[in-house]
Amino acid sequence: MKAIEIVDGIYRIGANIVGDYLFEGIWTIPDGVSLNSYVVVGEKKALIDLVQDYEDVPGVIKKQLESISLSIEDFDYIVINHMEPDHSGWLQECHRLNPDVKIIVTKKGAEMVESFFGITKNVIIVKSGDTLDLGNGKELLFEEIPNVHWPETMVTYEKNSQILFSCDAFGSFGKIEDEIFDDHISDEKHAFFEKETLRYFANIVSSFSKSVQRAIKKLEDLSIKMIAPSHGIIWRENPKVIIERYNKLACYIDGLAEPEITVVWGSMYGNTKKVLRSVVEGIRSENVPVHIFQAPDDDVSYALASAWKSKGIVFGMPTYEYKMFPPIAHVIDMFSRKHIWNRKVFRFGSYGWSGGAQKEFDSMTEKMKWDILEPVEWCGKASEEDHQRAYERGKELARLIKSEK
Ligand code: FEO
Repeated sequence: MKAIEIVDGIYRIGANIVGDYLFEGIWTIPDGVSLNSYVVVGEKKALIDLVQDYEDVPGVIKKQLESISLSIEDFDYIVINHMEPDHSGWLQECHRLNPDVKIIVTKKGAEMVESFFGITKNVIIVKSGDTLDLGNGKELLFEEIPNVHWPETMVTYEKNSQILFSCDAFGSFGKIEDEIFDDHISDEKHAFFEKETLRYFANIVSSFSKSVQRAIKKLEDLSIKMIAPSHGIIWRENPKVIIERYNKLACYIDGLAEPEITVVWGSMYGNTKKVLRSVVEGIRSENVPVHIFQAPDDDVSYALASAWKSKGIVFGMPTYEYKMFPPIAHVIDMFSRKHIWNRKVFRFGSYGWSGGAQKEFDSMTEKMKWDILEPVEWCGKASEEDHQRAYERGKELARLIKSEK
């Protein structure tokens, strides 16, 4: 990866994190994630968003800076749009190399710069509407977008080029190489980033969907020619695509999702697994797309992404020690934390001697605004009648999903 000039005097530099690394210590990223920073060169020089001090990521960035004859010591300003350490982790080292550099943050960001790094000197607090003239026709404007997805978050807009440096907003999982623009990548790659944007949104941002909607509304006042996020590709040809995609994803929090069904199942000895097929056949009989995930085998990150865009969710799990099968309880807990609300749902599953899973399920999901259909439960091995009930319930859910506008 190399430094790429995106317009005259503005460069994208960046690195990919790949391998077994878990993003935020939780989320699998088999196809990596990019950390993008931006260099704005006027009479003064600004570096917008840093990278994580992970393995040789800072080393990669240093080399890219060298390729455009710059080093950290040359910068007058470091703009920290968002303090999560994937964008600020390198700050301590940058500050050590260049103690005179001015750090531009929001008020809350300044508190975090002190609590994370003990830095108080040369910290400049900005608020929405403040500007910073770098000279040579480069002027930065700051807009706070709190809770997308941390409270201190802002975006930076370069007024002359009309580039929005949006940090996490409009970002995606997925590594990028030297083809960094939306008009450079293939249709296949666009499809890949669309999927990884959904997964990134569901894993990282979904709980803050209302804040995303507020931010999009606020940014409507800016004339945006290009969106340069800190994860994923740069939207140069058609930035509206990613704005509309984020708006749509944010609307899913109200249940305005796709007419699809996500099934998450787990089974101890196969009695619940055998009924899965009947449920899925019932759903498919109504031609409703169904996405199936097994717990604990499939990573919850993918089930979250699928459930985020599905109007309907089905859980298949047995009773385990008078309660839910623990791997599915974990999935439901994650769905709750990530605000997968306003869905149509039912549960099916076996029990050995007494039930209990449904009672815990009802209690755990009480505040998730789910419309829950009658469960399908049976003792031991499912009978033909149980299979038929499961088929009918799958069909009923699919019909409900289809009829909902
Ligand atoms: Fe990419 Fe919230 O950090």
